Amino acid sequence: MKNIGRWMRYVLLVAAALSGVMAAQARPLADIQKNGKIIIATEGQFAPFNFFQGTKLSGFEVELAELVAKKMGLAVEWKALGFDALLAGLRQDRWDLVIASHGITEERSKAVSFTSPHYCSGGQVVAMDAAIKTGADLAGKVVAVQTGTTYLESVKKLPGIKEVKNFPKDTDARSALVSGRVDAWVTDRFVVKQAFASAPNAGLKAGDMVFIEQIAAAVAKGNTTLAAGYNKALAEVMADGSYAALSARYFGEDVRCK
Ligand code: ARG
Repeated sequence: MKNIGRWMRYVLLVAAALSGVMAAQARPLADIQKNGKIIIATEGQFAPFNFFQGTKLSGFEVELAELVAKKMGLAVEWKALGFDALLAGLRQDRWDLVIASHGITEERSKAVSFTSPHYCSGGQVVAMDAAIKTGADLAGKVVAVQTGTTYLESVKKLPGIKEVKNFPKDTDARSALVSGRVDAWVTDRFVVKQAFASAPNAGLKAGDMVFIEQIAAAVAKGNTTLAAGYNKALAEVMADGSYAALSARYFGEDVRCK
């Protein structure tokens, strides 16, 4: 009897371990439609794209996803999590879609499926010292970036970088620059614009762009029905003037990929 108990515990342990490593089944579009609600995850710390206005999740991507969901006939349930957890959660079927300014990369495309891009942008150098402007100027310098981002990947490749410091939140990377703990910060060019507008006296100096990227939402790898439904609705939002109006309100320009 004792042995059976031990055996059962072993079976349960193995089952628990397997369920942790095996990807859960992502919800296809038909299931989401039947339920009427799509679960979307974002970070909420990357203004002006996704951020908290008090306790309310807001931003260009939050409003855009809501426009797209509406076209799909769906209500949105939002989840806000650390940037690092977002794509991993798709594999565990914890949410249906992620929209958090992810650049489309080959590496990420191995793990998730990207939708059509919703804006084009790139990484830009920011420093307190106006002499630090270009990728080449970063040689011998300590550079702050958010963990898990394309900024980290691109800065690592620049020749002669002294050190790349990782921060879980992009806002912490900015703080490190403002307080003089690093020489430069690399982040999205529209985040830079926003940082300048919200703190014009912080002494930040905008440098050059070091790379460009297409930004898209992501769904679980191979969830083709959801990606197709989202892409169709996004195309409609881009065609009917609502994308243009939203983009103009946030950026004073149309940020779609041309
Ligand atoms: N565009 C960059 C990337 O693809 C940064 C995204 C950061 N997003 C965020 N919500 N903090 O990695």
